[in-house]
Amino acid sequence: MTDNTATATPPFHPADVLNPHIMGDEVSMHALFDYLRSTDPVSWVEHPDYRSFWNLTRYDDVKTIGSANDEFLSAPRTVLVPEAMEQALLETFGNKNGLETLIHMDRPKHLKLRKVTREWFLPRSIDKLEAEVRALAKEFVDKMVEEGPECDFVRDVALLLPLRVIVSILGLPREAEPTMLKLTQEMFGGQDPSLQRSEDPTAGLAVIQDFTDYFTEVIAERKRQPTDDLASVLANALVDGEPMDTLDQMSYFIITASAGHDTTSAAIGGGMKALIEHPEQLALWRDRPDLDDRAARELIRWVAPVRHMVRTATREVTLGGKTIREGDNLALWYPAANRDPAAFDAPHRLDLSRDPKQQLAFGYGSHMCLGQHLATLEVSCFFRELLPRLEELELAGDPEWVKAIFVGGLRSLPVRYRLR
Ligand code: HEM
Repeated sequence: MTDNTATATPPFHPADVLNPHIMGDEVSMHALFDYLRSTDPVSWVEHPDYRSFWNLTRYDDVKTIGSANDEFLSAPRTVLVPEAMEQALLETFGNKNGLETLIHMDRPKHLKLRKVTREWFLPRSIDKLEAEVRALAKEFVDKMVEEGPECDFVRDVALLLPLRVIVSILGLPREAEPTMLKLTQEMFGGQDPSLQRSEDPTAGLAVIQDFTDYFTEVIAERKRQPTDDLASVLANALVDGEPMDTLDQMSYFIITASAGHDTTSAAIGGGMKALIEHPEQLALWRDRPDLDDRAARELIRWVAPVRHMVRTATREVTLGGKTIREGDNLALWYPAANRDPAAFDAPHRLDLSRDPKQQLAFGYGSHMCLGQHLATLEVSCFFRELLPRLEELELAGDPEWVKAIFVGGLRSLPVRYRLR
């Protein structure tokens, strides 16, 4: 069922994964994935606007295919976009993605480029940012106190904290925040008309161009005067002893600025909603700082902001009784994998003391999220600052979801609270 406002209910069709109204609503999305996982876990999708592909909804399939990176490639088709958009990108940029970022590459190039920032994102490097992230988290909780007793938690906090963190580690000025916010949302907002620059499916081209214009200046400046920020690492990186190719470098800036922003915002916004709905878990976390890392990762499992990535088979394989042929595309649905009862005890129960290692929201294998430690630190620092100061918290209106099938999350979460 595809009504634009109501929660959708079974029976579903495999192509419903492309319906932003179903995917842009947490309850409908999980109803769809539970249905597909139990009735047709490896399902074939045909849709007039998209090239066909397989849906993978079981934990084991998503993990196995997602981490067999030499046989199931990222480059040929990385995310699901309408064919018209793929065609426009091909004509303008010479490839179907428009960009050439880490997520769009395969070995051996992928490993070489990932090495450029690997050190920067290791836990021991990210740990050094903890004081700064805690200070930024405190800034936003203080802002909630000042502006209380109500706010739109997504618009006023969840969207802005990860943005500030990313702008800060890139070494950009705070004045860059509105531009980065707008471009990231336009890039990942996908099918949501409220975030799109225009209804034209090729509008994404202009977004890539704007990012490019902005970062071209940053690169020139950091080449002239390198500092110790991430922008300087990217601007001056050598690959095989040579400066990075221009498209690769631009794409690296864009992925770093955008991949860590909407995703982490969605985890904080969706995490807040989950805690409001599970007050006993909120109280547990408030009283148990030792749970910080675990709890943050459970919230990320729960929200699974990146809905999917796509892989292309280089050989025939049988999955769930279906024959996947060489050249076929497979969509890995992370929210479905993260709620698979074969992998998680009571998967629809939020359990902040759950073993967090297993979850797949960051993917698995050689493309596993480069920013996972940073994202977890942000979620953990924010709630560690908020929870002990919280005296009351409730919803102050209906949450609204972004209508997207790639990076999903809340657009709005009105809350009422009392904070110390
Ligand atoms: C890749 C999820 C935050 C940077 C990925 C992938 C997923 C993911 C699913 C793709 C894995 C694949 O193709 O197998 C998330 C989630 C986040 C988050 C759920 C927040 C809760 C961040 C942050 C950054 C970041 C904070 C850093 C600034 C990247 C990069 C890649 C990536 C650069 C490409 C890695 C590669 O292909 O080698 N992320 N991410 N992400 N993420 Fe994240």
